[in-house]
Amino acid sequence: MQTPILEVSNLSLRYPGASEPAVRDVSFTLGRERLGIVGESGSGKSTVGRALMRLLPQADLSADVMRFEDVDLLRASERQMLKVRGARMSMILQDPKFSLNPIRRCGDQVAEAYRTHVRCTKAEARAKAIAMLDAVQIRDPERVFEFYPHEVSGGMGQRIMIAMMLLTDPQLVIADEPTSALDVTVRLQVLKILDDLVRERGIGLVMISHDLNLVRNFCDRVLIMYAGRVVETLQADALDQARHPYTRGLLAAQPRIGGDRTALPVLDRDPAWLTSETHS
Ligand SMILES: Nc1ncnc2c1ncn2[C@@H]1O[C@H](COP(=O)(O)OP(=O)(O)O)[C@@H](O)[C@H]1O
Ligand SMILES: [Mg+2]
Repeated sequence: MQTPILEVSNLSLRYPGASEPAVRDVSFTLGRERLGIVGESGSGKSTVGRALMRLLPQADLSADVMRFEDVDLLRASERQMLKVRGARMSMILQDPKFSLNPIRRCGDQVAEAYRTHVRCTKAEARAKAIAMLDAVQIRDPERVFEFYPHEVSGGMGQRIMIAMMLLTDPQLVIADEPTSALDVTVRLQVLKILDDLVRERGIGLVMISHDLNLVRNFCDRVLIMYAGRVVETLQADALDQARHPYTRGLLAAQPRIGGDRTALPVLDRDPAWLTSETHS
């Protein structure tokens, strides 16, 4: 097997002052593939993403292994992390409104993100940014380069964020609910663009989502999280064979277009899920 891009073994994390850990004993490896992390709100998905980016310095983090390529994420200094974060590993967040600076032109923000990590002239960064805006299928990228964030739609804003995050050729992208703030019509379009770029470039993708249906279509493998734990790991195309009752409950709770309109089932929760793990 090829060496994984990312290796995580027994990652646990407790926020300051919290009585319970937000993440417990999470283990997985990631190759050049698309891995989904699915679970309900509060199950710890975003915390895993932020821990990997080392964005939670106040929290009590422990792991046996947390490694990205040649970087030991457990021991890397903040100085080392500044070189890695946003360059070799990037994170795409839910809502571009909170990620783009409202008083600066979109294109300048993309170009500047590039210049933070790659030494080049302003003109070179601009050309690179425009080419990348084109790659995320923004029509007339020269014009969009001059727009302020309030002048772009949510879908275009998210494509600008994807452009900004992929410009430095990262090997690992963590996308945390990248399309949850978008209308359903643009959601699939944006996901398709992200998916194409990730495949073309052989990037390892961690796709965090509460939406099991979305993840099964865009990922190779899925981790199901419940209360900070991975309760089950499955190939995306084998989700229907899920054994864990929580996964089965999530599957049963997916509304279907054109399906009958009986009430969706409510998940029963078993305290035993807090300690058990099923591998398929
Ligand atoms: N900055 C924080 N400080 C304290 N607790 C937090 C913080 N962020 C998240 N939590 C808690 O950690 C748990 C996991 O949250 P999160 O990782 O955001 O879940 P998810 O992304 O699956 O919705 C929740 O109980 C949440 O309330
Ligand atoms: Mg979250």
